[in-house]
Parts: sequence; C-alpha cells; structure tokens
Amino acid sequence: MIENTLRRGRALGTALAAGAVVLLTARCGSAPAEATTGDAAASQTVERGKYLVTVGGCNDCHTPFVMTERGPAPDMNRMLSGHPESSPMPPPPALPEGPWLWMGGATNTAFAGPWGVSFAFNLTPDDNTGMGIWTEEMFIRTLRTGRHMGVSRPVMPPMPWQGYAQMTDEDLKAIYAYLRTIPPIHNRVPDYIEPHHVPAMAK
Ligand code: HEC
Repeated sequence: MIENTLRRGRALGTALAAGAVVLLTARCGSAPAEATTGDAAASQTVERGKYLVTVGGCNDCHTPFVMTERGPAPDMNRMLSGHPESSPMPPPPALPEGPWLWMGGATNTAFAGPWGVSFAFNLTPDDNTGMGIWTEEMFIRTLRTGRHMGVSRPVMPPMPWQGYAQMTDEDLKAIYAYLRTIPPIHNRVPDYIEPHHVPAMAK
C-alpha cells in the first residue's frame, strides 16, 4: 500500500515536472484524493519535499560541483552538504572596472560579491555542522524572513530566499521533512565574510 502510494506520488511528481509551470502547478501534487494512513501521508510529505528541493534548484548551490564528462555537475555523494571544508578558498581577487560584479568558486558553493563572501550552508541533518539541531519552525522562519537561523544577520546572496519565502507553509514543511531524511554529512562550512574583511573589497 505504502509502496503503491509512493509510486503514484512519484509518477505524479514526474508528470508535474514535465509540465513546466513548476511551483504553481506543483501545488496540485500535494493532496491526493484518497485518504491515507499516517505513515503514507508522512512519506508523501517527504516525497513532495524531495520534489520541491529538486525543482527549486537547491543542489545547484548546496551540493559541490565536480567536473564530469558532461561538464560540471553536483556531486550527489556529497548531496546538500554545502561548501566543502576540504576546499578552503583563497581571498577573492579584485574584479576589473566594468559591469562584472560577482564571482563563484569551481564547486558553485562559494560566492564573492559586494555582499562579501558567502558559502552555501550544510543542509544535511548532521548535528554539529548541518541542520541537525534546526527545528521546523527555525527553518520556516529563516526562509520567510531571510535571517540567519531565523533570527540573526541577513542571509546573503545568492541564496534566493525571497522566492522561496513565497512557498506555502505546507511546502516549506515538506522541504524540511525531506531534509531530515537525507544522509547526514559532517562538513563544517566556512563562516560568511563581511566585505570589509575582504582585502580586494575593503576601501
Ligand atoms: C543560487 C544559489 C543557492 C540556491 C539555488 C539555494 N541556496 Fe540556500 N544558500 C545559498 C548560500 C550562498 C547560502 C549562505 C548564505 C549566507 O551565509 O548568508 C545559503 C544558505 C541557506 C540556508 C541557511 C540560512 C542561514 O540560516 O544562514 C538554508 C536553510 C538554505 N540556504 C536553504 C536552501 C534551500 C532549501 C534551497 C532550495 C529550495 C536553497 N537554499 C537554494 C545559496 C543558494
């Protein structure tokens, strides 16, 4: 029964993904007509979260890129573990005068621009370096307010929280539920660096 429901959920997810108008259309995917048991409902929530993480592009910045035969791609062995602590970044170089404004590291998890240097966060449920201690409420507050851990400094670019803030509570809860189920990866992401601490940016 659970397997069937899951398979149906997945088939629905795939059909919706094919239907381009992603986030709007996707809402239809959250409430299957028939009633389900608690367990089946929970796995549907997780499937829904996985779907939203996939179409929401979280892996593009939170999973380190490696070079493959088909070009750079997220290394799913390190899924959503953020900027790798094994790849310390040197200070970013100064950009020449002109319209180029920001730069990204080879892993697509480190970014430098007028806001300073930001590193994509570890979204896995690791207790010490990821979101292990995050409550659902903290997670939702972070994406709704753009505040670090829901309360402190502003979350920096290029994290597109302003768009994700428009999701329904149900969708944000589903993302949180899914993120609790992925493999925890111990990876301490470097701290955000303010522009006045970046030699090339300090005036
Ligand atoms: C374009 C790149 C990009 C995408 C896409 C992206 N993120 Fe992020 N995210 C970042 C960066 C960079 C940071 C670190 C920002 C900082 O340190 O202020 C971050 C930080 C976060 C944080 C931690 C905020 C905090 O408290 O400091 C959460 C949670 C998060 N992202 C969730 C997500 C989820 C969920 C998705 C997909 C739905 C997603 N991100 C997609 C770049 C991205």
